[in-house]
Amino acid sequence: MHDPRLDNDFDPLAAETFTSAHKLYQRMRAECPVAHSTAYGGFWALFRHEDVLRVLTDIDTFTTSVQNVVPKFAFTGRRPPLHFDPPEHTVYRRVINRSLTPRKVAALAPKVREHCVAVLQPLIDAGAGDVAADYAQVFPAHVFAEFFHVPLHLSARIKRISAEYVAAIQVVDDENVKRLSRVLYDIAADVIEARRADAWAPEDDLTTALLAETHEGEPLPPELVHGCVRQLLVTGMVAPSVFIGTMLAHLAGDKDLQRLLRAEPARIDAAVEEYLRLYTPYRGMSRTARRDVEIGGRLIRADEPIALVYTSANRDEAVFGDGEEFVLDRPALHRSIAFGAGIHSCPGAPLARLMLRTTVAELLARTTDFDVAGEIEMARWAEWGTHRVPMTFQPA
Ligand code: HEM
Repeated sequence: MHDPRLDNDFDPLAAETFTSAHKLYQRMRAECPVAHSTAYGGFWALFRHEDVLRVLTDIDTFTTSVQNVVPKFAFTGRRPPLHFDPPEHTVYRRVINRSLTPRKVAALAPKVREHCVAVLQPLIDAGAGDVAADYAQVFPAHVFAEFFHVPLHLSARIKRISAEYVAAIQVVDDENVKRLSRVLYDIAADVIEARRADAWAPEDDLTTALLAETHEGEPLPPELVHGCVRQLLVTGMVAPSVFIGTMLAHLAGDKDLQRLLRAEPARIDAAVEEYLRLYTPYRGMSRTARRDVEIGGRLIRADEPIALVYTSANRDEAVFGDGEEFVLDRPALHRSIAFGAGIHSCPGAPLARLMLRTTVAELLARTTDFDVAGEIEMARWAEWGTHRVPMTFQPA
């Protein structure tokens, strides 16, 4: 029987330009903030900040254990921490958090800078290059290799397979999603095997820390340590690889901001934070209600997937006023949920910020100007960001 609740309110698969999704989301926030799409087998989407935050913070009603991204793709097993609720979630987060403290991340800064320059400088020297394809999709693999203590060639392979995996998810190519996920599981198994042979201390290496951790006197189940390492292989590389191009495309077009940040590099941190709000890369992270709920006057039944459109929530005029604008040092910035909120909020945020701030600082210091010099290609749902950003550079 036809259920009008489940009619199609928007199409996540429509072709996009740099500005089209945000225009659509502005309209959705005003006219249909709790929307249903028939794409990807049917899902709900929340466009307002208030609704997204409500779901994130009500973990008794909303779980990540059924489906944590629209479209659903985790066919090859549940992986901590993202696919688990407390209490199971807690122990994995404790270990991950310990390896990403501000002190530990700060110690990585010189190496992160070295990798940034190694990937960026050749583009600047050439006077032209694609900052999405040739920088944003390469540099995170270098940082990951450094943080995870894997050789660069393996990290580059993980990045390549993760990109193919994300592309297969976007077009619901289930066979390839499963195949590539298994390849990533095999790589995670190799990383774990190598760690058993290495002499890392748990405080210096995340995989070693997971292997050494105990819960109620027992080691963590080997299959969940395997799943956790497998999840970490992908999570850290996807968002920066679509986000960096959007940030640099904006900065290329704002010459006053370029001048200001070159003159006052101390303000780069605030600019990056505002870019994370304005160009929030995740829009398909999801939760599932355990029981029927009403959100914004619409009934969502138990087990129906709900996408949290962070990309829209972070421009909500109810919270940010002129949310469509870039405003350096905007007062409400602390309400940005670019890294999520609540128990699943991003543990990698300190490392992500270091990568992004270093990128902006080095690009500004090594150029006098840069411009977008061609067609920008966008990534697809479930991420929002760039896939191709051709640029020209004026070396300093
Ligand atoms: C621009 C960069 C990044 C952005 C915008 C970002 C954003 C996010 C967001 C929004 C979530 C919450 C997902 C949800 O609510 O369902 C998340 C979770 C997560 N992120 Fe990040 N992330 C970034 C980089 C990283 C990096 C570099 C790492 C690893 C070092 C990382 C590891 C994780 C993990 C493990 C989770 C799952 C946490 C949990 O379930 O408790 N992320 N991230």
